[in-house]
Amino acid sequence: MNEIYHKCLEAAEFIRTKFDATDAIGIVLGSGLGDLADEITDAQIIDYADIPNYPKTTVPGHAGQLIFGYLNGVKVLCMKGRFHFYEGHDMKTVAMPTRVMKLLGVKALILTNAAGGVNRSFKPGTLMVISDFINYMGDNPLYGANVDELGPRFPDMTRALDPEYTALAIQTGKDLGIDIRDGVYMGFRGPNFETPAEIRFAEKIGADAVGMSTVPEILAARHCGLKVIGISCITNMGAGITGEVLTHEEVQETADRVKGQFKELIKTIVARM
Ligand code: HPA
Repeated sequence: MNEIYHKCLEAAEFIRTKFDATDAIGIVLGSGLGDLADEITDAQIIDYADIPNYPKTTVPGHAGQLIFGYLNGVKVLCMKGRFHFYEGHDMKTVAMPTRVMKLLGVKALILTNAAGGVNRSFKPGTLMVISDFINYMGDNPLYGANVDELGPRFPDMTRALDPEYTALAIQTGKDLGIDIRDGVYMGFRGPNFETPAEIRFAEKIGADAVGMSTVPEILAARHCGLKVIGISCITNMGAGITGEVLTHEEVQETADRVKGQFKELIKTIVARM
C-alpha cells in the first residue's frame, strides 16, 4: 500500500474511534480566524499532537486542534490551525489532513485563510471567495507516485473550486451585507511577504490575492473528489501597493476586526449547503 495512504488511514481510524464525521462539513480556519471554533456546540476536541502521523504546528495563533461538533445546527469537523509548507513540512504532510477529511466521509471542505490583496479594488477586511488559483509554490502534494486509492494521476482542475458552493458563498455574503468579492488566489511558498515586484507580477498574471497556504489543500481535495470552497480574508494590501511595510500584527488585527462578519458568513453558508 502507498505509504501516504497508509498514514492517512491510520489517522482517520484513530479519529473515527472518537466521533463519526460522516457528511459533516469540514472547515479549515486560517490565521486569526480560529475564534469560529468557539461557536461550535457539543464540541469534542482532539489535539493534533494525539493524532497518529500528524506533525505539530509551529505558528503563533494556530492552536492545532481538530474540533467536531455543531455549527448553527450543522455537523462540522473543524481544523483550528493547519500545516504550512513554509514551516518546513513537505507538501504531502501539508495535504494529509485534507485527505483524512475525505476518508472520514466529510461532505465538503471550506478552506479559509488570511491573504494579501492584489486586486486594487479590494480593501483590508474584504472577504474573497476563491474562484480559481495559481500554484506558484514550486511544489505539489500530488508529486511522486500517485495515490491510486484516492484519485487519478492527472486530476482535472477546471472547476477546482466547486462552482455551486462558490456561488452559494458569494450570495450568502451579499445577503448578509458583507463586502464580499471573488477572485484568483495565488499561493507563494513564504514565509516572507512578497516583494513589491512579486506583487506586480501576481497582478499581471491574473491574481487577485496572494497567500502562503490553501493551494496544497485544494489540490489534494480535488484529487480525491472532495468538494471545496475557499474564502480569503484580505488582511492587508500586497507589498508596495500602499507603500506601508507589512507585519504579522497587521494581518492579525484585520482578521480580528472582521471576525464577527466572517463567523456569520461561515455559519450561514454551512446552514445553506
Ligand atoms: N502575502 C502572503 N500571505 C499573506 C499576506 C500577504 O500579503 N497577508 C496575509 N497572508
